[in-house]
Amino acid sequence: MSTAFLPGSFDPMHLGHLDVVDQALEIFGDVVVGVMHNPSKPSGLFSPDARVELARATIGDRQGVRVEAFGGLAVQAATRAGASVIVKGLRTMADFDIEQQMAQNNVALTGIRTVFVPCRPDLAHISSRFIREISANGVSVEHMVVPAVADALTAAHGARGNS
Ligand code: PNS
Repeated sequence: MSTAFLPGSFDPMHLGHLDVVDQALEIFGDVVVGVMHNPSKPSGLFSPDARVELARATIGDRQGVRVEAFGGLAVQAATRAGASVIVKGLRTMADFDIEQQMAQNNVALTGIRTVFVPCRPDLAHISSRFIREISANGVSVEHMVVPAVADALTAAHGARGNS
C-alpha cells in the first residue's frame, strides 16, 4: 500500500472528484485529499476551511482517506502528507495539456510522479466552476454533489443575494 496525494481547489468537491478519490483508493489503499490554492483562480466561493468540511462530508465514512488544507506547491504538500505519488483525474484533452506540464515540473522538482486516472464518462461534464454558475442561478445541482454541498451552495448564494 502507498499513500497517494490528490490535490485540487475543491470549490466545492463534487461527484466527479469523488470518483477519482475512489479510483485512487482502489489503486493505492491510502489517499490524502489536499485542498489547495490555484493561482489562476484567485477568488473562490467557499473559504479553504469550508472546502475541507464539504470535502469531508462528500467522502463520508470511507476508510483510508483524509482531507487537509495545504499551502505551497503540490509536491511540497505531498511530501508533508507522506505521499509518494500524486493522483489527478482527467476529463478532457484540455485537462491533459495543463496536467502533463505540471506533472513534468513536479517529477523534475522532486521525483514525485503523477498518475492520471480517467474520470467516469457519465461524470465528465461535471466541474466546480459550472456547479457554482448553475447553482448561482437557482438551478438544482443535486445530481452533481452530495446533499451537504447542495445545501451549502444554496446558503452561499442566498447570502450573496443569488448573484
Ligand atoms: O482543482 P484545480 O483548481 O484544478 O487544482 C489545481 C491545483 C490546486 C492542484 C494546482 O493549482 C496546484 O497544484 N497548486 C499548488 C501550486 C503548484 O504546485 N503549482 C504547480 C507548479 S508546477
